[in-house]
Amino acid sequence: MTRKPLALALALALAWVSAADDQVHAPVRNRRKAMEADTVKALRDAKSLFDEGILSEQEFKEQKAELLQPKATVAAAAPCGFRAFFERNAAGPGIHKWLHYFSAYEQEFSRHCGAGGAPAKMIEIGIQSGGSMRMWRERFGQNLEVLVGVDIQPNTKAWERFGDEPGSRPGNVHVEIGSQADPAVFDRINAKYPGGFDIVLDDGSHAAAHILATFQIAWKLLRPGGVYFIEDITKENRRAVHDIILSASHPHEGGVRKGSTVLDALYDNKEGACCKITPNSVQHEVEYVKMYPMILAIKKRETPLDGGALQAKRRGDKWIPY
Ligand SMILES: C[S@@+](CC[C@H](N)C(=O)[O-])C[C@H]1O[C@@H](n2cnc3c(N)ncnc32)[C@H](O)[C@@H]1O
Repeated sequence: MTRKPLALALALALAWVSAADDQVHAPVRNRRKAMEADTVKALRDAKSLFDEGILSEQEFKEQKAELLQPKATVAAAAPCGFRAFFERNAAGPGIHKWLHYFSAYEQEFSRHCGAGGAPAKMIEIGIQSGGSMRMWRERFGQNLEVLVGVDIQPNTKAWERFGDEPGSRPGNVHVEIGSQADPAVFDRINAKYPGGFDIVLDDGSHAAAHILATFQIAWKLLRPGGVYFIEDITKENRRAVHDIILSASHPHEGGVRKGSTVLDALYDNKEGACCKITPNSVQHEVEYVKMYPMILAIKKRETPLDGGALQAKRRGDKWIPY
């Protein structure tokens, strides 16, 4: 398609977006108008980038399609709206993500989104151009108590300014300069923002040794219900990830039989018993280990096990023997 028909298509799209539905109540209409204004602005930004040759025709078409999706469907599937933020971010601090990560974020972090969402304290390791920090800041909104970025590049300190943007809890965005492999960085974070964190997201160097070292330090900082999230797992660094889930590197390995792995520990039924097992420290502490394409998510148990034990119970009074 040449640029003229594209411009016409954009004009029609803008007209469609702007067409107000007068049948709805005022608060709903106002919210919808605000969303429409965002969409119109994002469409215009994308069109400018296309005109300047920064976006290809294909990229422009994809962004447009994403922005014009019916909002009710998007909101139901994605209460936090991370993907929508990404698509709107045609101009501004850069953010670089595999697209399938957004639905993983929705699954793992959505309890912190929206009015009445759980408070969120987050560490993001590797913040580069700042766009991802800005996304957490905006999408967690007033639920965001503290966001701490960690990076080796001193110029990333600039992203603390997101904590002064409208809609932010003033000054809740911080950056610590240092390596993710340096325990002193996390000691500093722990001293400045005590009480633990709900999300630790490792998008730093992606070096195997760093992923492992960081996990061993930062898992301890997660509070109950928190999620440890490792991105960009590849064949080069998956050894570290396997060490985390498959080797004796888990910080609580001390509570498990010598030589066992975290998976051994999760599946352990050491008493071979029916129907009550004293959990080992991993069963006690890990709610789940979840593998997404190129991502590992480990959730710290929030609700203690019933009676502090792994238990099987029967209900019902009719049984087929086996
Ligand atoms: C993949 S980028 C982060 C992208 C960003 N999270 C986003 O979504 O757009 C990786 C970042 O990790 C930082 N980094 C590299 N090695 C590091 C280390 N040892 N400790 C902390 N940060 C590191 C780099 O400076 C870079 O800014």
